Amino acid sequence: MTLGNVEKEFTAAKYQQDELHIEQTALSKIADAVGTPAYVYSKSYLTDQYNLLSEALSSTPHQIHYSVKANSNLAILALFKSLGAGFDIVSAGELSRVLAVGGDPKSVIFSGVGKSVEEINFALKAGIGCFNVESRGELLRIMAQAELLGCVANVAIRVNPNVDAKTHPYIATGLKENKFGVTKEEAFALYLLAADHPAINLTGIDCHIGSQINEPEPLLQALTSILELRDTLEKEGISLQHIDLGGGFGVRYQDETPLDINDWGASVGQILGGRDLQLRIEPGRFLTANAGVLLTRVEYLKIADEPDHKNFAVVDAAMNDLLRPSLYQAWHEVLPVEKSSNAQPLEWDIVGPICESGDFLAKQRSLALAEKDLVAVLSIGAYGSVLASNYNTRGRAPEVLVDGAEFKVVRRRETIQDQLRLELKLELDQAGH
Ligand code: LLP
Repeated sequence: MTLGNVEKEFTAAKYQQDELHIEQTALSKIADAVGTPAYVYSKSYLTDQYNLLSEALSSTPHQIHYSVKANSNLAILALFKSLGAGFDIVSAGELSRVLAVGGDPKSVIFSGVGKSVEEINFALKAGIGCFNVESRGELLRIMAQAELLGCVANVAIRVNPNVDAKTHPYIATGLKENKFGVTKEEAFALYLLAADHPAINLTGIDCHIGSQINEPEPLLQALTSILELRDTLEKEGISLQHIDLGGGFGVRYQDETPLDINDWGASVGQILGGRDLQLRIEPGRFLTANAGVLLTRVEYLKIADEPDHKNFAVVDAAMNDLLRPSLYQAWHEVLPVEKSSNAQPLEWDIVGPICESGDFLAKQRSLALAEKDLVAVLSIGAYGSVLASNYNTRGRAPEVLVDGAEFKVVRRRETIQDQLRLELKLELDQAGH
């Protein structure tokens, strides 16, 4: 059995002579050059993941729309564009990023429940490929704005198929209790409403049931469900050209068995059954998660002085750099950058400098550590840097893209001046006036 990305390599980080590398570049070399913490990504891993997914769907006419929210660095967008990807965006900001790398606006799908008038106008003027519409109010708003601007909006309605994606509740989106999309009944009504509207071109149907999905069944159930609606609409004389399954393809973080992407691709082809439809997908995590590591250095080791106390390794990365462990109790592998044979392994909680007990990157990990050691937190290429904040007035970490034995800083480290220049320092007298 091929296991998608697992059989190849679990992540882009590999030991060469006891030194952790991304491609042919030692992570210690990157730490020397840019300092820590730093996010480091592998260009070849990103490319391979894209090709794997595309090949899994090779017998189905398809388009991959990279979900920008997973990792929106311009270098990564430029890479996926060069590989032939379109984009899935959820804000005007993300559209600006796509346009900044010369992305074709027609390759852009705009998802999200809260599109503002300004965002809709920006997207209409840019000429994006499709709005994934999530409510009646949004459809009416797009109709009105497109009419005002004298243009036609391409639209797919996002259906909430009420399918359990069997994932973390914060990232499940396809249940009726979730805020996303509309019921099939409401979608049907919205298609009828928009069918003859001169400013609307109904091009497709959309769903996205969640993220980090490792079972094929929920994804296939969702496909079957929206296909039924597509077939009903066809009988009503509303003919759609594409079906958008969203993203959500799971990856391995620890010992999960992710979706077999080739089997899934074959099943999708069977279910589509030769219908004249383009398949669209919006993957984020699958393409980027295991391409990246967060490089961090041990500042202090606090060794338990009583048997029932914990050992803490305080590193220079924190929850502001990697929120996933604190927010979703997510598990990320932590590896020493240099394997040292003499230190005795101990069980550590790997924590950051932030003043919260929720500031941890990993718990109860057996590692041989010394102060100043470099460690790598794996699988952070998706929802790592994009979820970073300035909490505790910490600057955002730089991002580095490795290509073989070379690397480029694709986002520089944020300085304190970067943060302070957005704010106003009031000049006040002693009475506060
Ligand atoms: N399309 C839509 C409409 C989405 O909402 C998402 C993700 C995607 C595509 C991409 O899903 P992916 O292929 O990456 O699973 N911050 C969380 C994940 C949030 C996902 C939000 N939506 C995490 O760190 O696990």
